Amino acid sequence: MYSNDITMKPLQTYRIPELYAWPGALSELPVLAARSGAKRLLIVTDTGIVQSGILDVVVKSLKGNQLELLIESGISKEPSTGLVDKLYGRVKDFRPDLIVALGGGSPMDIAKLLSVMVHQGGEAVSYLFPDAVRTKGIPLIAIPTTAGTGSEVSPIAVFTDDSDGIKKAVVSRHLIPEVALLDAHLSLRMPALVTAGSGMDALTHAIEAYTSTRANAFSDSFAREAVRFIIPYLKTAVLSGLQQDARHFMLLGSFYAGIAFTNAGVAAVHALAYPLGGLYDVPHGVANSMLLPYVMQFNKPACAGRYHELARITGIIETEDAPSGADALIRYIKQLSRDIGIPEGLHRVNIPELAIPGMAQSAAGIKRLMDNNPRPVTALDAEQIYRHAYGDALVAS
Ligand SMILES: NC(=O)c1ccc[n+]([C@@H]2O[C@H](COP(=O)([O-])OP(=O)(O)OC[C@H]3O[C@@H](n4cnc5c(N)ncnc54)[C@H](O)[C@@H]3O)[C@@H](O)[C@H]2O)c1
Ligand SMILES: [Fe+2]
Repeated sequence: MYSNDITMKPLQTYRIPELYAWPGALSELPVLAARSGAKRLLIVTDTGIVQSGILDVVVKSLKGNQLELLIESGISKEPSTGLVDKLYGRVKDFRPDLIVALGGGSPMDIAKLLSVMVHQGGEAVSYLFPDAVRTKGIPLIAIPTTAGTGSEVSPIAVFTDDSDGIKKAVVSRHLIPEVALLDAHLSLRMPALVTAGSGMDALTHAIEAYTSTRANAFSDSFAREAVRFIIPYLKTAVLSGLQQDARHFMLLGSFYAGIAFTNAGVAAVHALAYPLGGLYDVPHGVANSMLLPYVMQFNKPACAGRYHELARITGIIETEDAPSGADALIRYIKQLSRDIGIPEGLHRVNIPELAIPGMAQSAAGIKRLMDNNPRPVTALDAEQIYRHAYGDALVAS
């Protein structure tokens, strides 16, 4: 049963994109493009998606539409504000009236910001401030090929700020795509480590939203379902990537987790992961995964009951009265990360030990995220968490 502190919270939710989600759903794209009345379509994607043949499949699906097409694929993983400016310079004269964001979080985030910049102009860095996005952008259809960031449903776009190397977010309801199209066929050949990292990102979104100080009845229902989609299918998606069911449920899990964190936020795991991505190029999902069990251990005194519930609904513990579902969930997540090939210990991804105090300062200062954490995190706490995640040798010393 819900406690009053959840049910009596004022409930205000974000818009959810129109959803098309089944293996083969790409067949809807030409219909949606025609319905929009668009004449000039910009497709934002990256080189991995071009090389994998996915872009060709998407372009072919549009062959009957009378559309002028511009394809922008010069996108690096984990994009920076400078890159967005460069791309904006290349696409603005085309004056697109529809954008398709095709790929993982990196091209989707770029496409979302471009959709606004095409109307509003300016430099990407100027959008990193609250309320900087003033107007709705060009209609955007998001086709995620990872599962994932939830960017296809979120009001967020994440970029490394070139001036200080820190990952920051543009946040606005105007960034939420009009349509999300989830087609498992497009993620069947996602590389194993990308599947593992992005899948753990989605799981982190669900868990952090479920234990957020802003959790509410709406976000909870999506967070719980997300965990129920992701836990049984992530390992299969990594180890047997061609299994369509696993890919489909991972896409759904990522979408649900996206709704959960859109409406409740993410917290300390993401704050601690940002310096690893911005300064040391650790992929976002891998960074989250390496930190998640250690942050959960730290948060346990504040939300053991909620972890217990997640362990129960996923069958990690078999009975309601089993002792400490929280510990069982944390153990399960550590083992899952190991099984799907996430590196163990921050030393394995070339983080210098000396960097820990600076990263801790930086992470503890990300108020937007830390305010959502169920237990307050000081810079000293953040340092301790990094040390635990660094590797057993360091903790023992
Ligand atoms: N906007 C949000 O709400 C939000 C949330 C979480 C993370 N993010 C951001 O998203 C970015 C990470 O996105 P990501 O984890 O989806 O990875 P990504 O977009 O960086 O892609 C990683 C690599 O996988 C390749 N790839 C993707 N799908 C593929 C497929 N189906 N087949 C073959 N190759 C494929 C890409 O070409 C790329 O080389 C980070 O910048 C992160 O900060 C955004
Ligand atoms: Fe994330």
